[in-house]
Amino acid sequence: MDVIVAGSRAELDEARAALGIGARWGDRDGRTLALVPTMGALHEGHLSLIRLAKEHADHVAVSIFVNPLQFGPNEDFSRYPRTFEADVAACRTEGVDIVFAPSAEEMYPPDRQVSVSAGHMGTIVEGAFRPGHFDGVLTVVLKLFNLVRPSVAIFGQKDAQQLAMIRRMVADLDVPVRIIGAPIVREPDGLALSSRNRYLSPDEREIALALSRALHEGAGHRTPWEIVAATRQVLDAAPLTVDYVVLADPATFAEVADDHVGEAVLAVAARVGTTRLIDNVIVTLP
Ligand code: PAF
Repeated sequence: MDVIVAGSRAELDEARAALGIGARWGDRDGRTLALVPTMGALHEGHLSLIRLAKEHADHVAVSIFVNPLQFGPNEDFSRYPRTFEADVAACRTEGVDIVFAPSAEEMYPPDRQVSVSAGHMGTIVEGAFRPGHFDGVLTVVLKLFNLVRPSVAIFGQKDAQQLAMIRRMVADLDVPVRIIGAPIVREPDGLALSSRNRYLSPDEREIALALSRALHEGAGHRTPWEIVAATRQVLDAAPLTVDYVVLADPATFAEVADDHVGEAVLAVAARVGTTRLIDNVIVTLP
């Protein structure tokens, strides 16, 4: 069956029914559905999420929605790449069953009042540089969950704090969706795939390699202090502006103490020209 493109709630419900997925949430009365939420401009990283989704459910839905709520006033909402036809073609090639691509009006009626608050965790690390960003992410993700009603949803580890926040929301608000994190996909030279990479000029792309190089360098050290210092040293030597280097608890994103033992996420954000990039790696502290 060809991919079904649904633009409205009604079309989405019809698509679910056409696939034999029950009207209720999850897999209780029919076949199972996995959701891969995206903002489009699909690249190999997204395709890896789709392939993982197929391992976890009978059917896969991909949502494509550039969510205005998660962009700050000076961020790149208007120039964010929109490549809808190519995205649908990629979904078709990957055997996606449903593409849900609602309009902003469909998602956000003008009289809307209530949204999700990301709490304290939404104000630290990435949230400190992007006020309101995680409120916007969680609001749209909860709405997508309510509309698509998947049993499982896949998110990239590339947005590590987003993944942690979504796990937190699902736990705190009792949302019946299993969250699966998928590994970062990188170019052969280490650059983490991102829709925003297409903003980079060839020179800027070279500079951007400092992020993965810095993480690699940092991850080779043993104590939190050394890890952060080594990472920062590589970034400071490159012509970019560092927003943060942090070694954080992967579940809470609180900075780990110097005697931390076990897993931690080493996360960086930096601006190369006008493009803001993030990257991270999981390290295990002995
Ligand atoms: O990671 C993204 O692309 C977005 O933040 C998401 C999860 C699709 C919500 O708009």
